[in-house]
Amino acid sequence: MSKIFFLILIIFVGFTVGQVPPYKEECVKDAYPPPASRLVKEYIINLDLPPEERWAELVKEKALLIKNILTKFKEFVRDWGQEAAKLIELVDEKFGKFDDTLPEPFRGELLGIAKYSNLNLGEVVLYNIFYEIFTVCTSIVAEDPSGNLYHARNLDFGLFIGWDIRNKTWEITEALKPLIVNLNFQRSGQTVFKSVNYAGYVGILTAVKPKTFTLSMDERFNKDGGFIGIIEWLLGIRTGSWMGFLTRGVMENSTSYNQARDVLSNTEMLAPAYFILGGTKSGEGCVITRAREKTLDIWEMTSAGGWYILETNYDHWTKPLFLDDRRTPANKCMRNMTQANVSVKGIFNVLSSKPVLNKLTTYTAVMEVSTGHLETYLANCTDPCFPW
Ligand SMILES: *[C@@H]1O[C@H](CO)[C@@H](O)[C@H](O)[C@H]1NC(C)=O
Ligand SMILES: *[C@@H]1O[C@H](CO)[C@@H](O)[C@H](O)[C@H]1NC(C)=O
Ligand SMILES: *[C@@H]1O[C@H](CO)[C@@H](O)[C@H](O)[C@H]1NC(C)=O
Ligand SMILES: *[C@@H]1O[C@H](CO)[C@@H](O)[C@H](O)[C@H]1NC(C)=O
Ligand SMILES: *[C@@H]1O[C@H](CO)[C@@H](O)[C@H](O)[C@H]1NC(C)=O
Repeated sequence: MSKIFFLILIIFVGFTVGQVPPYKEECVKDAYPPPASRLVKEYIINLDLPPEERWAELVKEKALLIKNILTKFKEFVRDWGQEAAKLIELVDEKFGKFDDTLPEPFRGELLGIAKYSNLNLGEVVLYNIFYEIFTVCTSIVAEDPSGNLYHARNLDFGLFIGWDIRNKTWEITEALKPLIVNLNFQRSGQTVFKSVNYAGYVGILTAVKPKTFTLSMDERFNKDGGFIGIIEWLLGIRTGSWMGFLTRGVMENSTSYNQARDVLSNTEMLAPAYFILGGTKSGEGCVITRAREKTLDIWEMTSAGGWYILETNYDHWTKPLFLDDRRTPANKCMRNMTQANVSVKGIFNVLSSKPVLNKLTTYTAVMEVSTGHLETYLANCTDPCFPW
């Protein structure tokens, strides 16, 4: 996987350098607020309903869009060769066998999604697997001078999936945007937590539990990475948890920053990951660097930027890949902003600075734990803009 990654990256750079004007790195100061047309709508997910019924409304509305994405995913995987194509068939046709091994409430939820979107269960599982392995992102936890905490992220998705030369966009990235929704998970009419999701995905990549903690996940590329774990899972070797199931469980059931941190650090997973966790008190922010079986490192906000901590897709003790360095520009813009300007607006501006914002970015979300506020905007990276 990583070799292919490198190769395509290098070919792609050679090709784009000849094609487009030089990209400029800059710290923008006036990106907030973006036009209201880019604001993402909220839907309620009622946890009191049986799992099969929870997603009915949303999925019915978005069924055609989900189908569209799935078709593109499959084309993409088939392009990888026969082995990959076989895998798709396996999931598509023989999923009945795996069905029973999915833990509740996910089994029920996926069955419900299949039912209301008119897809088969295998396809819904495939759709849910994809987000575990193709997300490239930037996450930030920061505190203002009074100790109030913000947590924000860009979610970049769709690398290598159909670059459109004419309008300079990634096919999947664009097709995903209309699927982005804010979700308000409720029990007894009360908010348990809020998240940003692609409709039809039941895991959690970005979420806030009001007055308790905030969480985001960034992909960690590694030799024993997502693919292997997921293939093992499909073949019946089921030791770890799906990342999205783990984060969802934490959002639903963990009741404090420390408990969330403990669960995220100590559960075996199918794929490596970075968990970015924010608490409620000054200094409560960390990046948990996960291998599949264990935690490699927990990096504290107090020893990172002091008043902020920032993670992209590289271990913080190593340098980012020089072709994919969003970390250095993001740090530069955070420092330029200074702690005095930490706010929804200030952080949104940092995440709107290129190449932190790029053509893969699907959304930018900012959360404030003290109020439970979640604000999500669809990304719009106007040219000239970095492809990733
Ligand atoms: C980009 O171009 C393709 C056709 O080449 C079109 O289908 C798609 O809608 C365009 N996307 C945008 C965002 O303009
Ligand atoms: C949260 O805990 C409840 C009660 O133990 C359990 O039924 C539910 O499945 C858990 N949620 C998740 C997502 O694991
Ligand atoms: C931020 O950048 C501007 C120029 O873009 C510069 O004038 C200013 O000194 C910088 N501020 C800090 C705190 O680095
Ligand atoms: C930070 O705030 C100061 C004063 O409030 C303002 O002059 C400056 O332009 C702000 N900087 C940024 C990067 O927003
Ligand atoms: C993105 O920004 C450009 C330039 O401001 C604008 O023309 C275009 O309509 C925007 N697209 C969306 C989807 O908001």
